[in-house]
Amino acid sequence: MNNTPVVSLQDLEVIFKGKQGFIDQYILRKKKLVHAVDGLNLDIAPGEIVSLVGESGSGKTTTGRAILQLTPLTSGKVLFKGEEIEPRNRQYMRNFRREAQMIFQDPYQSLNPRFNVFEIVTEPLLFEDRSYSLAEKEILALQALEFAGLRPAIDYLYRFPHELSGGQRQRVSIATCFIMSPDFIIADEPVSMLDASVRADILKLFVNMKEERNTAFLFITHDLSLAWLISDRVAIMYLGKVMEIGPADIISGKCQHPYSQALTSVLAMVGEERRQKKILLEGETPSPIDIPSGCRFHPRCPIAVERCRVEEPPYHEVCPGQFVSCHFPGPPERLRR
Ligand SMILES: Nc1ncnc2c1ncn2[C@@H]1O[C@H](COP(=O)(O)OP(=O)(O)OP(=O)(O)O)[C@@H](O)[C@H]1O
Ligand code: SF4
Ligand SMILES: [Mg+2]
Repeated sequence: MNNTPVVSLQDLEVIFKGKQGFIDQYILRKKKLVHAVDGLNLDIAPGEIVSLVGESGSGKTTTGRAILQLTPLTSGKVLFKGEEIEPRNRQYMRNFRREAQMIFQDPYQSLNPRFNVFEIVTEPLLFEDRSYSLAEKEILALQALEFAGLRPAIDYLYRFPHELSGGQRQRVSIATCFIMSPDFIIADEPVSMLDASVRADILKLFVNMKEERNTAFLFITHDLSLAWLISDRVAIMYLGKVMEIGPADIISGKCQHPYSQALTSVLAMVGEERRQKKILLEGETPSPIDIPSGCRFHPRCPIAVERCRVEEPPYHEVCPGQFVSCHFPGPPERLRR
């Protein structure tokens, strides 16, 4: 069995230049830097679904874009199947773009409105080393559309995006990914704009791809309940850093970071009565331009002490495979005193 991770992030850091006003630029001469991703380490195994969960602005999309080299890294490395990605090597990138794909949140914007479904779904084949006949392309497109749940596929093959519903467009995006049989897919909020009835079907398609083709996923969402539903592991991100990561069932019931505990306390588990009181966090998420010292969560943490303000917590492995970046990991009861 091959144990090499499909994707390995090593101290991944992405810093953007923030917008500067006249005073910052010319009088204070201060640079505003947005620390969107701040030292991320993560391995994703073949056939594994890892969810990256966090509030708006926590750095989820930037992480996904950095993995695919759509956003330049400031420092750190992304390894794909054990080798560092070579963004300047055109042949390497051609192969990489076949093997690693992204599905975006907005199916309205991610499809070219001037192309019909056949042209959209078969476009990735243009980057293959071999050429395909029209008949071959049609067969592959029909298979991919069938897989993505557009049935009978022939009814959709020559439609344009404006002739499809949101759910159907997202299925076209999935068919476009499927045709290349990628080993790794980043799905960035892929169902957040879809009706609840379509959501479950689309999530099932991801699980089918994982099970039938051993495809690995980075599933980006702000919705913890979706993450639990389909993931093997869940990573909770806050201000560019993973606060806690572990098996999905452990993160759902036995997370040990105060931030994860606050997030989980506001969600009722499927089929389970909510017995615990909610943990309400005070204050807003600080700006990634001005990341708090020590533990970045300290201004909102109900149990922060002086040490938290000065010392960045390392990761503690509190259970096998469950890592928590907190000086005082423990059960949620300690937050409710
Ligand atoms: N190109 C850019 N230039 C400057 N800042 C950026 C850029 N892209 C993202 N950011 C900033 O980086 C931070 C992380 O953004 P990102 O889009 O990764 O968050 P997110 O977790 O995906 O949020 P959401 O849930 O709203 O999609 C934010 O503060 C955002 O404003
Ligand atoms: S390190 Fe301190 S501030 Fe940070 S989460 Fe743990 S207890 Fe809270
Ligand atoms: Mg995003």
